[in-house]
Amino acid sequence: MPVRSVPGTASIANSDGGKLFAPSAERNQEVLCDLLEQVAPASGGAALELASGTGQHVTGYAARLPQFSWQPTEADLSRLQSIDAYVAEAELNNVRPAETLDATSAGWGAAQDPKDLIVLSNLLHLISTAEAQCLIREAAHALAPGGRLVLYGPFSRGGELTSPGDERFHASLQAHDPKIGYKDDFDILDWAETKGLTPVQVIEMPANNLAFVFSKDAP
Ligand SMILES: C[S@@+](CC[C@H](N)C(=O)[O-])C[C@H]1O[C@@H](n2cnc3c(N)ncnc32)[C@H](O)[C@@H]1O
Repeated sequence: MPVRSVPGTASIANSDGGKLFAPSAERNQEVLCDLLEQVAPASGGAALELASGTGQHVTGYAARLPQFSWQPTEADLSRLQSIDAYVAEAELNNVRPAETLDATSAGWGAAQDPKDLIVLSNLLHLISTAEAQCLIREAAHALAPGGRLVLYGPFSRGGELTSPGDERFHASLQAHDPKIGYKDDFDILDWAETKGLTPVQVIEMPANNLAFVFSKDAP
């Protein structure tokens, strides 16, 4: 399964035995757990994480939101073992074994059992516009009515990059591959709304990141 090549600065994961370690995942783990506690459906249910990366995040999510059964997924096969190693170490019984999923492939949404919560962090800037649109469309398909989609990462605002660090990062992504780079907040809202997702909140997060929370309308 092809995973887009990205610059080394975009996805750093060092290996520690079977477990990969991403310093950025460690840094934003707590704020993401706090966010999900606030915005996830209170009734719990089935949760899907896209692009789980090392597996650091899903262990935190599962510990803090035990009312959900968590399914971590990744496009990079070499990361599945790391995800499972973190889950085993944390002795969590509400996380399923990691599965392969290319979140930019057409049709994955229909193949899922309906999900009450779908979480994606730090991928949209690493894929093309068409792939980002596809990902949102498939996530909307995979959500149960009333389910929520949470998207987190760096974004431009109204067409503007709003910090020197964001300008540098976006430029480095585009120099590596002109098809990838920051997506705009207005576009995210637009793409999601056309797929039947209602914006619940757009939240300013630390390090100039944004979190979008969408709810799937009942049919
Ligand atoms: C920057 S890392 C973010 C990992 C984690 N979500 C986090 O926030 O720390 C991007 C991850 O997306 C995965 N990825 C890349 N393309 C993907 C795709 N098409 N579908 C699912 N995952 C993908 C990469 O393998 C990598 O683990």
